[in-house]
Amino acid sequence: MKDTKHAVPAAHSKNAKRPNRFLGQWGVFLRGFIEHPKMVGSIIPSSRFTIGKMLAPVKWDECKLFVEYGPGVGTFCDPVLAHLRPDGALIVIDTNPLFIDYLNRTIDDPRFTAVLGSAVDVEAIVRDHGHDHADYVLSGLPFSTLPGGVGPAIAAATHRVLRPGGAFLVYQFSAKARDFMAKHFTRIDAGFEFWNVLPCKLFWGWKDLPAQTAV
Ligand SMILES: C[S@@+](CC[C@H](N)C(=O)[O-])C[C@H]1O[C@@H](n2cnc3c(N)ncnc32)[C@H](O)[C@@H]1O
Repeated sequence: MKDTKHAVPAAHSKNAKRPNRFLGQWGVFLRGFIEHPKMVGSIIPSSRFTIGKMLAPVKWDECKLFVEYGPGVGTFCDPVLAHLRPDGALIVIDTNPLFIDYLNRTIDDPRFTAVLGSAVDVEAIVRDHGHDHADYVLSGLPFSTLPGGVGPAIAAATHRVLRPGGAFLVYQFSAKARDFMAKHFTRIDAGFEFWNVLPCKLFWGWKDLPAQTAV
């Protein structure tokens, strides 16, 4: 396990192996899709427009642990690491060993940890890495094509693992994820990004502080 609490200078957010990473990124992603189309759900990584819009509401100064489900080839990882505070941590969870190997080879940042596993197990993963809760959880999972029961279980576990005031950030081609989120998150903001292949729906599910829900 990496020491995610270790403070690092801001320069470490730059990926030292970026050129190598950029060349192989699309090929690795396409291979992942061909091998597991239903689990990957897209042939092209998310666009920079989706990334910018999705991350816009994050309060980075309040974020010590950022968790990402389904990072694929790490499209969101660099932008998250660029914003993340020096003593923050990014834990990404993916079921595909091809992607986890790729991320471990290409992202060199002590705040970064890639876990081979399922988002269903996020609570145990967060705990095993020394954290009580996550501040934000981001998901690029293809909720519509995941095996039965997996989507609802992930939404429930995510609500439990978030601290009050934290948020579940979800982008997807369909609105399926919103159905699962709505069982746990009473306040869900919605958006849309046209400049993505395919255009996608964006959701921000807020785990309100007790005072916010009582009104
Ligand atoms: C559409 S890709 C997202 C790629 C990337 N986040 C992006 O925006 O370009 C979906 C990813 O979810 C992963 N995945 C599918 N089921 C999962 C699960 N239960 N837990 C964690 N990752 C999962 C796939 O392996 C794949 O990497």
